Amino acid sequence: MLTLDPGSLSHRERYFLLIGSIVPRPIAFVSTVSSRGKTNVAPFSYFNGVSSSPPLLSVAIGSRAGKPKDSWRNIEETGEFVVNVVPEEIFEKMVAASADFPPEISEFDETGLTPVPSERITPPRVAESPIQLECVLHELVKLGDSESPTALVIGEVVLAHVRDGLYLEQGHIDPEKLRAIGRMGRQDYVRTRDRFERKRPRT
Ligand SMILES: Cc1cc2nc3c(=O)[nH]c(=O)nc-3n(C[C@H](O)[C@H](O)[C@H](O)COP(=O)(O)O)c2cc1C
Repeated sequence: MLTLDPGSLSHRERYFLLIGSIVPRPIAFVSTVSSRGKTNVAPFSYFNGVSSSPPLLSVAIGSRAGKPKDSWRNIEETGEFVVNVVPEEIFEKMVAASADFPPEISEFDETGLTPVPSERITPPRVAESPIQLECVLHELVKLGDSESPTALVIGEVVLAHVRDGLYLEQGHIDPEKLRAIGRMGRQDYVRTRDRFERKRPRT
């Protein structure tokens, strides 16, 4: 067994250790709008569900050269964001949207993705995404040091949009039709086509 003390690793090595160990990770394709009205969409895989009642999810957004990424700044300014689920069909556009565009450039224009108005909040949804979760900021926790700060964004889902045919019954989503993509370590991804069922034991 190799024993690693994170304190003795570089930032990059810690990053690769975590993203290679915590796999597969779901991807939140987060759409936001700045206080000046400029739209933004970017992927984040430090993403998970937190609580069902109330329906909370978390996204951890890092920084660039010590400054909050655009999505973090927009969420802090407006208190709103949409989590769009990423299926195989929009995989390449999701990757394209992760490039370091300056705040005055909208990734919607750069990728050709279609913004569609949300119903409860200002940031648009991504029309091509089969599940879009309208969220309001519940809490933003600042973590890390001033060199590489991270925002743990906890959002409450105030409205969910699910494409026709995906919603089965009683909240169930058809994974076969959803075809969500997950993130692995390095630059690797995983499809969600290889699934198996196993019931939990009853005691
Ligand atoms: C699949 C994928 C997952 C990513 N996950 C994260 C993440 O969890 N946290 C983060 O800070 N950046 C993550 N990134 C990088 C951001 O998407 C990238 O820095 C983007 O430019 C941020 O955009 P923004 O400045 O418009 O917010 C990820 C990129 C990809 C392609």
